[in-house]
Amino acid sequence: MLQKMDEIFQDFQSKIANLDKQADVLALKSSVIGKKGTLAEILKSLKNATPEERKTIGPKSNQIKQNIEKIVQEKIQKIELDEVNQKLEKEKIDFSLTNKNLEQGLQAAGLHPVTSIQREIEDIFISMGFDVLDGPHIEDEFHNFEALNIPDTHPARDMQDTFWFQDMKHLLRTHTSTIQVRGMESRKPPFKFVGPGKVFRSERTDATHEMCFHQLEGMMVGKDITVGNLIYFMKTLLKEIFKKDMEVRLRPGYFPFVEPGFELDIRWKKPAKGESKHSGWLELLPCGMVHPNVLKAGGIDPEEYNGFAFGLGLDRLVMVKYMIEDIRHLHSGDLRFNKQFKAY
Ligand code: FA5
Repeated sequence: MLQKMDEIFQDFQSKIANLDKQADVLALKSSVIGKKGTLAEILKSLKNATPEERKTIGPKSNQIKQNIEKIVQEKIQKIELDEVNQKLEKEKIDFSLTNKNLEQGLQAAGLHPVTSIQREIEDIFISMGFDVLDGPHIEDEFHNFEALNIPDTHPARDMQDTFWFQDMKHLLRTHTSTIQVRGMESRKPPFKFVGPGKVFRSERTDATHEMCFHQLEGMMVGKDITVGNLIYFMKTLLKEIFKKDMEVRLRPGYFPFVEPGFELDIRWKKPAKGESKHSGWLELLPCGMVHPNVLKAGGIDPEEYNGFAFGLGLDRLVMVKYMIEDIRHLHSGDLRFNKQFKAY
């Protein structure tokens, strides 16, 4: 078994060396140390090992996992750096800011909890066969509104207060649903993907609202997809994150790009200042069946295919998971806040 584990690690090292896309790196990581990965498979036969072997197999497997996490992190940093360098070369920008302090920040304070939860969710969806897509922060009207069944005069445009550019044609994306449109444009059904990222809204901040926050979009398109499929994936996601069945409620919700649309709320205990804890419902996961007009705008025939989509608020999820009473702590830039999550 020990030899087999070494082989798995060597195979991982030779494969990762040839990858140059983040999504492929994450998929490889999941195929080795994910729940259904090759390492987990081989650990299943632990029961047949001798007591002596068992003493070494556990620590060795942990060591391999740690090494793989480290190699993946370094590889992703390298891919990001290569992308920046390529852009700089193309755009001829003088970029002399050193990243020395950023590295110290990461070592001293660990990953931000939103980054950690985003990576955790990506892994969960990758293990269920989803791709991970990215999209631009600066968008055009078509991808943020029109293709999502929100034409110019539609009152739903006011549901999300928008930061417009002066040309009034471009904007900072108000939701990751833009990635739905870009995903449909770039692939043929059946497909399923998630798309995490920052979004921006010109809103007043309060304990549960930020102007810049994070969402994770999900979309599955195929033949004969039902609300049952949607509920299955949402429940699996929440169970994997909270490691238990969570109390949720599904309410009808209106979004022009889904029909029917739902709001999935989660029961959480909100720590109140100086009082005993009280609980409530937190709006977390709007979702629904993709509207036929959206499929059409993405070049997909709604007579032949259908699907579901959801948009998860990542900052709110972190709040529920770690019982944080005010969203503004998350982006306060105070490293003492980050340090609390180093152990997770
Ligand atoms: C949307 O943004 C839709 N695009 C989601 C969607 C996708 C619906 C696909 C159906 C199908 P909404 O505006 O409700 O919906 O935002 C989605 C989630 O982002 C909310 O449930 C909440 O968790 C989070 N959110 C919204 N506004 C804020 C804010 N100001 N600060 C922090 N989190 C927010």
